[in-house]
Amino acid sequence: MSRVNENYLKLPGSYLFSTIGRKVREYSETHPEKKIIRLGIGDVTQPLAPAIIEALHSAVDEMAKPETFRGYAPDLGYEFLRNAIAKNDYQARGCQIAADEIFVSDGAKSDSANIQEVFSADSRIAVCDPVYPVYVDSNVMAGRAGDYDAAKQIWSNVIYMPCTAENGFAPEFPMETPDLIYLCFPNNPTGAAITKAQLQDWVDYANKCGAVIIYDAAYEAYISEENIPHSIYECEGARTCAIELRSFSKNAGFTGVRLGFTVIPKELKCGEVSLHSLWARRHGTKYNGAPYIVQRAGEAVYSEAGKAQLKAQVAYYMNNARYIYQGLKEVGYTVSGGVNAPYIWLKAPNGMTSWEFFDCLLERVNVVGTPGSGFGPHGETYFRLTAFGSYENTVEAVERIKSLQL
Ligand SMILES: Cc1ncc(COP(=O)(O)O)c(C=O)c1O
Repeated sequence: MSRVNENYLKLPGSYLFSTIGRKVREYSETHPEKKIIRLGIGDVTQPLAPAIIEALHSAVDEMAKPETFRGYAPDLGYEFLRNAIAKNDYQARGCQIAADEIFVSDGAKSDSANIQEVFSADSRIAVCDPVYPVYVDSNVMAGRAGDYDAAKQIWSNVIYMPCTAENGFAPEFPMETPDLIYLCFPNNPTGAAITKAQLQDWVDYANKCGAVIIYDAAYEAYISEENIPHSIYECEGARTCAIELRSFSKNAGFTGVRLGFTVIPKELKCGEVSLHSLWARRHGTKYNGAPYIVQRAGEAVYSEAGKAQLKAQVAYYMNNARYIYQGLKEVGYTVSGGVNAPYIWLKAPNGMTSWEFFDCLLERVNVVGTPGSGFGPHGETYFRLTAFGSYENTVEAVERIKSLQL
């Protein structure tokens, strides 16, 4: 008789963004005349840059001719893309990462959810609180999280590292020793970044206790300050303790195109076993590669024209971030983030809960954001706004929120 993986049954309710989607849908069905502005889900709105469109078109044309048609991609990704990544994202920053340490994928969501598979079922994971929900949920599905305490909104076997205003939204070393540490900087949802010295402390800590850091750098392109590391491999010793995840979604608008990669240095070992070999084995069995045309589009991200166009695109979103940050601060909101990340993290006013503020914004000014509590218990009373809207919508949303006079 078939039986389900019971770990799935432990997952509470629906995924955060499904709940938001349902609430917004219900509201717009009953108020069809209202213009809703969505600054909730972290999805981009600007079209793909011309250099990327050009690369896509030309790769599509190649697929139309027998002599240039491509079938299955190499398991780990085409060399032209892995070379471009190694050169531009790593070697140009002084990080010793080789092309054959890069595994091309369809994005950081799948990689961040799948990477836990290569670790033992009894590994203890440590996550920031609040956190990008995928890290926890994927470990729940794998049976590693223990039992859920609905009242406290925590899992019995997960080590939580609170990120609060008091610690500048930077986690402190946990009291219990973890086996896997998920870090994401610049951070979703808080928009906070950590300095190279702070990240070096984490690398030293992981090497000392034999833990592996899974470092999600999906928002690396938004870093504007000098002392913020773009990659964990800028830190000494990271090659023996860290896996890095990257995405083309936020730096190049590929949320609908789908492309990302994972870096696993060859020195990284779990006991005597090379994690690089294990992930290569896993990739070979479960993944048949990102599409050729998409990998060509990824390559165009690193062309001179691509770099210039994407710099302008990131600047466009960061201008929105500044507008939200300053606008809300002016009227007395407690705001953070928005300097090295496209997220503004604000305190819900007047002691409201995250969901009360969500409902208030949706119903009174038709603006959608994301309730902080959806990212973990320490997100309660906070709220996330994204800078990924159009400038016009961002300005209008900020003016509407200001008009609330809470
Ligand atoms: C921290 C973080 N990691 C990964 C992802 C997913 O990236 P991708 O679109 O490459 O799957 C997101 C998307 O919002 C994210 O915020």
